[in-house]
Amino acid sequence: MEKIPVSGPSITEKEIAYVTAAVTAAWYGQANVFHQRFEEEFAAYLGVRYAVALPSCTAALHLALAALGIGPGDEVIVPDITWIATAAPITYVGATPVFADIDPRTWCLSAASLESCLTGRTKAVIPVDLYGSVPDMDAMSAIARRHNLAVIEDAAEAIGSEYHGRKAGSLGDVGVFSFHGSKTMTTGEGGMLVTDREDLYQRVLALRDHGRRPGDKMFWNTEVAFKYKMSSMQAALGLAQLERLEELVEHKRRIFSWYRRELSGVAGLTLNYEAPGTKNTYWMVTAIIDPKLGLAKEDLLEQLGEYGIDGRPFFHPLSSLPAYAHLPRARRARQRNQVAYNLSPWGVNLPSGLNMDEEKVAYVCQTLKRLLSLAIIPGYQESCLEEKRAVL
Ligand SMILES: Cc1ncc(COP(=O)(O)O)c(C=O)c1O
Repeated sequence: MEKIPVSGPSITEKEIAYVTAAVTAAWYGQANVFHQRFEEEFAAYLGVRYAVALPSCTAALHLALAALGIGPGDEVIVPDITWIATAAPITYVGATPVFADIDPRTWCLSAASLESCLTGRTKAVIPVDLYGSVPDMDAMSAIARRHNLAVIEDAAEAIGSEYHGRKAGSLGDVGVFSFHGSKTMTTGEGGMLVTDREDLYQRVLALRDHGRRPGDKMFWNTEVAFKYKMSSMQAALGLAQLERLEELVEHKRRIFSWYRRELSGVAGLTLNYEAPGTKNTYWMVTAIIDPKLGLAKEDLLEQLGEYGIDGRPFFHPLSSLPAYAHLPRARRARQRNQVAYNLSPWGVNLPSGLNMDEEKVAYVCQTLKRLLSLAIIPGYQESCLEEKRAVL
């Protein structure tokens, strides 16, 4: 069997036709036709007023912070478990990231920890829809309202996820998405910023275009800003993917259901959680292995690799990274964020690409079960059952 990659897209004749049309004709007076359709249809899908196509989600986060006027002296709270792209743009604008703990079930920002991290300098919070799971956004919004914080929802990994009937990414002042090649819908590299706020939308349009306000006279820059634009070919690819999004999301959920069926009842393993009232799109099927088995994520990934199975480690807490070693707030986070530090060493992302079929999932699960059974210590299975009975 060929190596099973951890992620990857679904590309059909539709995508090829749209990109071909863009590279053939989206020039001169037609240069923006695909951007316009992509942005309009994306906003309609999300149920928001504005969408801006960008070269990456990192750029979207940077613009969101800049448009909100966040800068030196300000603090922005992020979950300790996420990709560094959530936090790096806080440094770009000169503010300070503060790493809060995560919820043990959704693996997303914990509202209680968010509250405990607030100071007089906190200006914004960036909840992350980790691996397609959505945090308790009602609690986040209530805290944000009480403390006058902006909410930037990092939905990079959660296109199609839902929270009480609303789409992930539409739940804060600003939402951001990634269309990196590993994501549920892709433009190769790319991102989108969405908002209902006219003021933020106008500010983002100027900031992403070297400080030129839309409609101003030509080459007239009112400030020094950024150049963050997506190409027509990427917008065409994104449009084709968006028009197939229901199918892509459904397949993601089907892949997860195969894993759940194959792994149900396996002792010592916890998969992604779907909180009541939410729809998880399972960008990455993720298994947390009971620490009692002593099978650290790096070891398990190496063993899976020997069977041709590609995986990824659960994110390391940001506060544990050398990149943030100099921050006093990171030192405090290392002591405070018990959930992040207890889960992270034992989590692996399993192959979740859109090319996964039932047979491949069965192979990954059989292999995983074999590796777990080798790690199982005598009496472990019984002790798990007893623990479960005690809970019931
Ligand atoms: C949670 C999260 N935020 C932000 C990003 C950044 O996305 P991009 O690579 O498009 O800049 C990613 C990308 O993987 C991500 O997973």
